[in-house]
Amino acid sequence: MKKKVIIDTDPGPDDGVAILTALGSPLIEVLGVCAVAGNVPLHHTIRNVCKILELAERQDVRAFAGADAPLARPLFTAEYVHGKTGFEGYDLPEPTMPVQSQHAADYIIEEVMSHPPRTVTICALGPLTNIAIALERDERIAERIEQIAWMGGALSEGGNVTPAAEFNCYVDPEAAALVLRSGIPVVMMPLDVTHKAHVTVERIRRFRTMGNKVGPVFAELLTYAKQFDWQKYGADRAPMHDPTTIVWLLRPELFSGREVNVEVESVSPLTTGMTIIDWWGVTDRQKNAYVVHDVDAEGFYDVIFESFRRLP
Ligand code: RIB
Ligand code: CA
Repeated sequence: MKKKVIIDTDPGPDDGVAILTALGSPLIEVLGVCAVAGNVPLHHTIRNVCKILELAERQDVRAFAGADAPLARPLFTAEYVHGKTGFEGYDLPEPTMPVQSQHAADYIIEEVMSHPPRTVTICALGPLTNIAIALERDERIAERIEQIAWMGGALSEGGNVTPAAEFNCYVDPEAAALVLRSGIPVVMMPLDVTHKAHVTVERIRRFRTMGNKVGPVFAELLTYAKQFDWQKYGADRAPMHDPTTIVWLLRPELFSGREVNVEVESVSPLTTGMTIIDWWGVTDRQKNAYVVHDVDAEGFYDVIFESFRRLP
């Protein structure tokens, strides 16, 4: 039985690798892909979603545009990392596939409510704004969504956009808090695990020499996008973030973590977007997320490459 997955995303290249890892797996049915503002503004993230689907020759998968700003604060974007369009480094053709007219949040509600309870998973690769809006519009989905696998937050790795906050949580902390309060089973992939899955030169070479179209394209996109991280974290230590949510669905045994309480700070300018993770159970707060801390990096990339090799 294939895993039914909605992907909510703000492409940059990490997101692209995640989407293609899902599309290349015979064990996943991608029901739809929803764009949210994050790495770059919405008009670029929806365009990048379509570029990825067309690159994979999967225009059959519907693309939806969602929120162009967080729930309650101005949008903060990361062109300084991913470039103006979020997809610098390789000139993918202008997409021609249609974008659905339905708002991503309404699509999420419709898709989830049209399936039996607990049979649709959401892989959230960016700020959680679309999912929060869907919950505000129809709270019934909280009892229907199987799980949300979310790349976001940080335990002891510290922040990547401020000293305290990881980017996806920083952009929309109110949305993250609302989703974490919803009761939906959340699997959280924080920086503590994504910083153990390095985009090394050798792994870029494996993308480049894959012998198809998709591999070399992503070798270029990742080479561009990871320049910033190579400067920041050191050669061969650039993290790979978003595909952790997809590989979790395929090979959960590659990961380890624990069920804990996670709260989100959204008041102090110093710590806004910080995930307060009760790793040692020092409070009696409700355990509301499975927080992943470790990954078998070799096994993780084997899954990615296996999917990529099945693509055009
Ligand atoms: O902090 C990492 C996250 O921010 C990833 O989702 C990456 O795509 C960027 O959006
Ligand atoms: Ca992302």
